[in-house]
Parts: sequence; structure tokens; C-alpha cells
Amino acid sequence: MREERRLPHKRDGLQFLKTKTAYVIFVVLTYAFGYFSAYYYLQPPSPATTALRTSDDTTKTHDCSIDNFRITTRCGDLLPPELIRRTVIDRIFNGTSPYTDFPPPHAGKFLRRKRIKGWGSYGLVFENLIRRVKPRTIVEIGTFLGASAIHMANLTRRLGLEETQILCVDDFRGWPGFRDRFKDVALVNGDVLLMYQFMQNVVSSGFSGSILPVPFSTGSGLEKLCEWGVTADLVEIDAGHDFNSAWADINRAVRILRPGGVLFGHDYFTAADNRGVRRAVNLFAEINRLKVKTDGQHWVIDSINLI
Ligand SMILES: C[S@@+](CC[C@H](N)C(=O)[O-])C[C@H]1O[C@@H](n2cnc3c(N)ncnc32)[C@H](O)[C@@H]1O
Repeated sequence: MREERRLPHKRDGLQFLKTKTAYVIFVVLTYAFGYFSAYYYLQPPSPATTALRTSDDTTKTHDCSIDNFRITTRCGDLLPPELIRRTVIDRIFNGTSPYTDFPPPHAGKFLRRKRIKGWGSYGLVFENLIRRVKPRTIVEIGTFLGASAIHMANLTRRLGLEETQILCVDDFRGWPGFRDRFKDVALVNGDVLLMYQFMQNVVSSGFSGSILPVPFSTGSGLEKLCEWGVTADLVEIDAGHDFNSAWADINRAVRILRPGGVLFGHDYFTAADNRGVRRAVNLFAEINRLKVKTDGQHWVIDSINLI
């Protein structure tokens, strides 16, 4: 009897898919695909941190392009610290100190001589870092009524750092509903007088020569400081506490940090931490292969320790 030649049939393919060999091939292919795609996405350290690691020449252009947000602008040439206050006054306040003729007549009657309230604003971390870094310039991101800024100014004065300037980036809007707890911060025609009360606190504390407001959103304020070549030895982050805000602030802040500077912030260990601050800090450190230290409720990323 002549054996009939079997033609390949679709069902053979289906049968094959049910075999152990097919299963093993499938597992191997899936693993290989995962392996190669992970390899493809592995990034070299970001240019921002590379600049921090390698640059010891503070007079050259600060190479701090950022890749996380596809922002391509570069920071301006580094300003010498002694020009920073003048530059901020010129660029933001048209050449006149905001403290000149302060307070304006329409606001004076609403201000209290000193109305200060902060959160973790007197933690030991401030003294520890200021003693160690001896900052010439500090940028605080999130200032509110100035508790931590004024505390830092007191510390720098006590430690003999008379030249230190503190720039306070805050939109001075607080947050929706904040006046439920701060009714005494006046609201005039829908405009909350938070910046004026902050400035009044600074004046009453005797620090108008060393603390300046930068009254913008953290995003636009930090972009401009970077563009003008303003850098800081210490940058403190304490503005929005959700992940997106903290993540954006950290990634922008690192661009204005001087080589060897220190980045730190509040709410790593507080009730607010899991709103996103700790996750943002940890992710940033992981991506850039940095070490997060803690000091009380604060996190500290010390660029001196960069690999
Ligand atoms: C927790 S308070 C800062 C407290 C201050 N560091 C202290 O300890 O005294 C947060 C501040 O961040 C400001 N803020 C929050 N998100 C901001 C943003 N996107 N741009 C500018 N300021 C912001 C708020 O206006 C508020 O004054």
C-alpha cells in the first residue's frame, strides 16, 4: 500500500504550540526581549550631575542641561556670589530693592510686626549644614512666612558669615484654603498679603540686607535663576509636597547647585512624607546614583559624596 504523503497542516502548527519545546522557546524569547529593552533604556548619569561631579572650575559655563523633562536650555555663565543680590534686584525688581519704602501705604495697616509660623523650620539640619558648607548663597524653595529663612539668616550671622545671601523662591500664595488657619494674613481684593507679611518679618528681624524674595512659581523662578547664572551652595526644598511638585523642584534645583553644594529638604519623615516627597527624593537619588542622608525630618543629598 502506498503511504500517503502528509501535507503540512495548520493543525500541526497549533499542536506544536502546545509542546514543551514551544513553551521553552517562548520563555527564552520573553526573557531576551526584557533583557535587551532594559539594556536599551539604561541611561548614563544625567548631565546635571555629571557637571557637579567633574567641574571644579566655577568660572566656566555651568553645564547643567536636564534630560528628565526634555528641557534644552542651558544655565548661564556662573555669576560670582558677590553679584547675585544685585542681579536679582535688577532682573526682578527693576533695580530697586523691594524693601525700599516698605511697607507700601495700602498694605502697612494689615501687617503685623512679626507673624512667623513654620514647620520643622528650626531643625538641627540647618545649623549642621551651614556650619559645614559655610554657604555664600542659599536658595530656599518654599518660604511662606520666612521661619526657616530667618532662622538660617540668624545662623549665618551667628557663625560670622556676614556675606551670605538667602534667596526665597515662593509664589507667596500659600495654598488653597490656607487662610482657614491663617486668618490674620490679610486678603485684600482677593490678593493675600503673604509676601508683604514675609517681608515685614524679615525687616523686623533685621535681615533685609541678606534675604530677598523671588516671588514666582518654583518652576519659572528656578528656570530664571539658572538662566541668569545664579547658583547656590545650599538649596533647601520645601514647597509642594506631592510627588510631581517635589520631583520637578528637585530636578530644577540641582541645576543651580554649585559644584560641591548640598541639596536638602523637609518632610522626609513627617505625616506629609508619603504624599510624595520621600518617593521623589529616593527616585532622584536612585537614577543619579546618589546617597540620601537624613537629619531629623529632613533629607540631605550631599554632592561631595557623588560617585
Ligand atoms: C511648607 S511652606 C514653606 C515653609 C518654610 N520653608 C518654613 O519652614 O518656614 C510651603 C510654601 O511653598 C509655597 N509653594 C508651594 N508650591 C509652590 C510653587 N509651585 N511655586 C511657588 N511656591 C510654592 C507655598 O506658597 C508655601 O509658602
